Amino acid sequence: MYWLTAIVRPFKLNDIYEQLLSEGIGGMTITEVKGFGNQKSHAEVYRGNTYTSRFVPKVKIEMAVKDDDLDRVIQSISLASKTGSPGDGKIFAWRLEHAIRIRTAESDGLAI
Ligand SMILES: Nc1ncnc2c1ncn2[C@@H]1O[C@H](COP(=O)(O)OP(=O)(O)OP(=O)(O)O)[C@@H](O)[C@H]1O
Ligand SMILES: [Mg+2]
Repeated sequence: MYWLTAIVRPFKLNDIYEQLLSEGIGGMTITEVKGFGNQKSHAEVYRGNTYTSRFVPKVKIEMAVKDDDLDRVIQSISLASKTGSPGDGKIFAWRLEHAIRIRTAESDGLAI
């Protein structure tokens, strides 16, 4: 299993959700965040405001993903998130040790 974090443009969230759902992948946690990337040479536009060095509003998606689904999830999020302009976001993933569904006590692969 992997724990995956994607930091994306807020207005792309619904496209990402629909894309993942169409792939049969469900379960995610969303947080509204702010951040900055490598924008020394690029300004980033959000809702008509141009950001050069200030924190830009983003959505952070967190998901527990089965090994076999990782590539597909990364592709789906990338496809749905991409505009081609600076600020499209990033995806990070690292190994996840355990998962438990509290209701049934199922664990790991059965719990996600
Ligand atoms: N190294 C990082 N560590 C943690 N969060 C990051 C990192 N880089 C980017 N982020 C987060 O992702 C958001 C989007 O980053 P962004 O897409 O602007 O990256 P970038 O490297 O500047 O790429 P681009 O040149 O396409 O804009 C940032 O606002 C920040 O919240
Ligand atoms: Mg950037």
